[in-house]
Amino acid sequence: MTTAAQVLQGLFSAEGLEDPYRYYADLRRHGPVSLIGGSGPYAAVVTGYDAVNQVLRDPRVRVTDDAFADSHGGAAWREHPLLAALNNSMMYSNGERHVRARRLFQQVFTPRRVQELEPAMVAQISSLIDGLEARLLADGEADFMAEFAYLLPSSVVAALLGIPAEDLAWFRPRVQRINEFLDVTGKTAEVLARADEATVELSSYYRRLIAVRRTEPADDLISQLVAEDTDVTDEELVCNLLVLFNASFVTTIHLLGNGLSLLLAHPELRSAPMGPFVEEVLRYESPVQYVARYADDVIEIAGTTIPPKEVVLVMLGAANRDPESYPEADRFDPTRFAADPIVSTAERRASQGSVRPLSFGAGPHFCLGAALARAEAQLAFPLLMSRLPGLRAARAPVRYPQQFLRGFESMPVEVGDAP
Ligand code: HEM
Repeated sequence: MTTAAQVLQGLFSAEGLEDPYRYYADLRRHGPVSLIGGSGPYAAVVTGYDAVNQVLRDPRVRVTDDAFADSHGGAAWREHPLLAALNNSMMYSNGERHVRARRLFQQVFTPRRVQELEPAMVAQISSLIDGLEARLLADGEADFMAEFAYLLPSSVVAALLGIPAEDLAWFRPRVQRINEFLDVTGKTAEVLARADEATVELSSYYRRLIAVRRTEPADDLISQLVAEDTDVTDEELVCNLLVLFNASFVTTIHLLGNGLSLLLAHPELRSAPMGPFVEEVLRYESPVQYVARYADDVIEIAGTTIPPKEVVLVMLGAANRDPESYPEADRFDPTRFAADPIVSTAERRASQGSVRPLSFGAGPHFCLGAALARAEAQLAFPLLMSRLPGLRAARAPVRYPQQFLRGFESMPVEVGDAP
């Protein structure tokens, strides 16, 4: 049997990018948690559903934060605007700083707010379909990723935050530059320099917008955030806005792309209930494939002892394909979520239903935008299918070149006869 370290090497290769699932299955042969050993960047990889769920909820387990960065390479990270901003945001903080920022955002970013956004989302989706249709008419084919998937999430989050639509063309490439650095394969000095520059530009944009909304409040999230009585500093607010925009934009793109690709491959599902369909897309092709964690002390997860202060890769994409949690896990089958999928794991197990996919994480850092992302996808697919019933693949899509995010770079589509 190949070692876990060898399997991990395969996973982070071109073959692994195309099909990570066979590497996850190989890792699972070593058990739900595999120690990597050697002097590489990762101490262990967690692939079993229950183990992933447990690690993410364990109070001893932390996201990689400023203390972790200090103990791995000293304080040099503080010179990099991107790294300083990330470590000042809720996504890369533990304990009190995390709770403070998360509480503030949760107060204003409620399920009701998502519901209120629905008419605006439908209008945005319709207008993007107009654009897609026009491109299809003019050129005979269109790139779904560029013409739709790439545009919808950023327009929705911009409307939510109160970023004027005309500023989006300036925003998107800067957000992409930050994202390039976040993948394990992207950590070069040039990529970091570009991401640093983008961080400085985006931060000053947010600072200006915060100042404007303080004096001229509007009906948007930034106005609400600055109106709250909070001990979150302005700098923390800027860093959290930066991370929120990035986290919403780069992930939802792939939920939309992966979902469309599965709908095109399974025309019989076009009229299927959207709740279970979107849940199965999230499970089957998790847009975020992994997150990183560490613990200050030795901990034991699923019978494996994990060394302290070392990075543990927590594979959401593997947990979602664990056959112990999902019978025929490699089969795309929305009926496994035919009942309401949004109930607790324990309730689901008790009712013999499918457990909720871990695509939005679990525990204290559970995705703040899960409801928004689900709503975008659940609204977009039926509208796309009813307005463009003959939509089909024009050529094979091109895979997005990042292991961390699973999706497509481009997806050429055309219109034929309706199936
Ligand atoms: C399909 C789309 C999305 C996926 C797959 C996704 C996935 C995730 C995951 C896996 C995490 C946990 C990270 C960790 O545990 O280290 C997370 C956190 C987060 N997500 Fe999402 N996300 C999506 C959409 C969104 C949207 C639309 C927003 C905002 C509007 C958003 C905002 C956030 C924020 C702020 C966090 C950090 C929460 C914290 O640290 O407490 N995400 N997301």
